[in-house]
Amino acid sequence: MSTSYQNIRGTFDILPDAYTDDGGTRIASSAEWRHVEATIRDVMRRHNFEEIRTPILEPTELVARGVGESTDIVQKEMFAFERKDTQYVLRPEITAPVVRSFLQHHLDQRGGVQKLFYIGPCFRAEKPQKGRYRQFHQFGIEILGADEARADAETIAVLMAICEALGLSDLHLRLNTLGTPERREEYIAALQDYLAPYADELSETSRRRLDRNPLRILDTKVEHEQEILRDAPQLIDFVGDESLAHYEEVKGLLADLEIEYEEDPHLVRGLDYYTETTFELESPGLGAQSALAGGGRYDRLAEVLGSDEPVPAIGFAAGMERLFLALDDADAERPAPPEPDVFIAALGDEAERWVFRTSQDLRDAGLHVAHDLMGRSLKAQMKEANRQNAPYAVIIGGNELDAETATVKEMESGEQVDVPFDGLAEHLRERVENP
Ligand code: HAM
Repeated sequence: MSTSYQNIRGTFDILPDAYTDDGGTRIASSAEWRHVEATIRDVMRRHNFEEIRTPILEPTELVARGVGESTDIVQKEMFAFERKDTQYVLRPEITAPVVRSFLQHHLDQRGGVQKLFYIGPCFRAEKPQKGRYRQFHQFGIEILGADEARADAETIAVLMAICEALGLSDLHLRLNTLGTPERREEYIAALQDYLAPYADELSETSRRRLDRNPLRILDTKVEHEQEILRDAPQLIDFVGDESLAHYEEVKGLLADLEIEYEEDPHLVRGLDYYTETTFELESPGLGAQSALAGGGRYDRLAEVLGSDEPVPAIGFAAGMERLFLALDDADAERPAPPEPDVFIAALGDEAERWVFRTSQDLRDAGLHVAHDLMGRSLKAQMKEANRQNAPYAVIIGGNELDAETATVKEMESGEQVDVPFDGLAEHLRERVENP
C-alpha cells in the first residue's frame, strides 16, 4: 500500500506501536503516551490541580502581546494567518491562553487561588531537529492569584514529582530571579552600556538583540560571548530587596523539600512576561535541546492582557517529546500496548454471527474482546490471537453452536475446557481476574 502524502516536517504520528522516525528518533506508542499522561494527571490530582482546556486557535494579538513582540516566538515562529479580517494563531504556548481564559471567565470568583493544569499541542515554526518539532505537546501548570513564595516552590515541586513518578532522575534544575520589570529596565540599560563597546565582536544574533532584547544575550552559547559577559553587570545586583527576600524564601522552601538546584544568574528565558523567579529543568541526555521544562512568575501578564487588577501568578510547561527522549535515555519502564483478554475465533457464517453478537455481551460484562473481521480460517484467527497476545481464545464452530458450549483455550498452556454459553462471561471474567 502507498500514498503520495506524508505528514508535515516537524510533526509526527503517534501509532499503536513505537517506531523510529526518519531522523532516528524513537516515537513512543500511543499506550506510552497514555501512560505518561495518566501519570501526569495522577500527580496533578495529588497536588490538587484542576484541568483547563483552551482552544488551539487564539487571536494573534493575544500571543503577540502576551509572549512579547520582541521574542523569537512572535518574531519568527508563529503559525499565524488571516481569514476574513480576523488574525488567528496556532497557540505557541499555553500560559497566555490560560490567563485570557481566567480573566474572560472571571475564574477568580470561584474563590481562592486557581491551580490549573493542561496537556495539549502547541505550534512553533522552528527548524525541526531532535527534540524540536513544529507541532509538539506541552503539559504544565499555572497557579493564578498567589504571590507567596510557597506557590513558586510548589510549582517546581509538581514538576519534580512528575519526573520522579515517571522514573526520571539525573535532572538539573537551574534557578534565577529577574526581579520587577522596573528594576530590570535599569539593569538592561547597564548591560547595554557594558556591551556597546563590544558590539563589533558580537555575533549577528546578539548584535540584533543588543537593541531589541539585550537580556537574551545572557543566554548565548557562543564561547567568545560568554567570555565577554564574564565581567558584565549582574542582574542580581539590580533586583530590589523585596525580590531578593522572595527569592531567598523560595530557595529555603526548595531546601525543605530536598529539591536540589543551581543558581544561574544568566537564566533569562525566551518569553517576555517573566518577573521574579524563573527556572529551567534540564536532562543531560537531551543534547542541544536540553530544556525539558521551563517556567517562572509572570505577575504582570494579566494586566498586559487588559486586567484592571494585578494577578500574581507562576507556572511551568514541559515538552512531552523531550520527556520521552529523557525516558529513553534513562531506560525508564514503559507499558506494553494493551492486550485483549480474549480472542473469539469463529468457524463458519453462523458462528461468525454468534461471535459478533456474543462479543457485545462479553464487552458489556467488562471484558476486552477481540475477534476477526476478515472471514479468515481458524488457523489464521488463532495466529492473530497469538499476535495480539490474548491470554485466552474462545473457539466457536458448528459443534459448539449445537451443544451450546464454547471451547475456551488457554493460549500459553494449550489447555482447553468446554464452557456452557450461559456461563461464558462469568467463566472468562473469573479467569481473567485470577490468572
Ligand atoms: P518554553 O520554555 O517556551 O516555556 O516551553 C516549555 C517547554 O516546551 C520547553 O522546555 C520544551 O520542553 C518544550 N518545547 C518548546 N518548544 C518546543 C519545540 N519546538 N519542540 C518540542 N518541545 C518544545 C513556555 O512555553 C511557557 N509557557 C512556560 C510557562 C508556563 N511559564 C509559566 N507558565
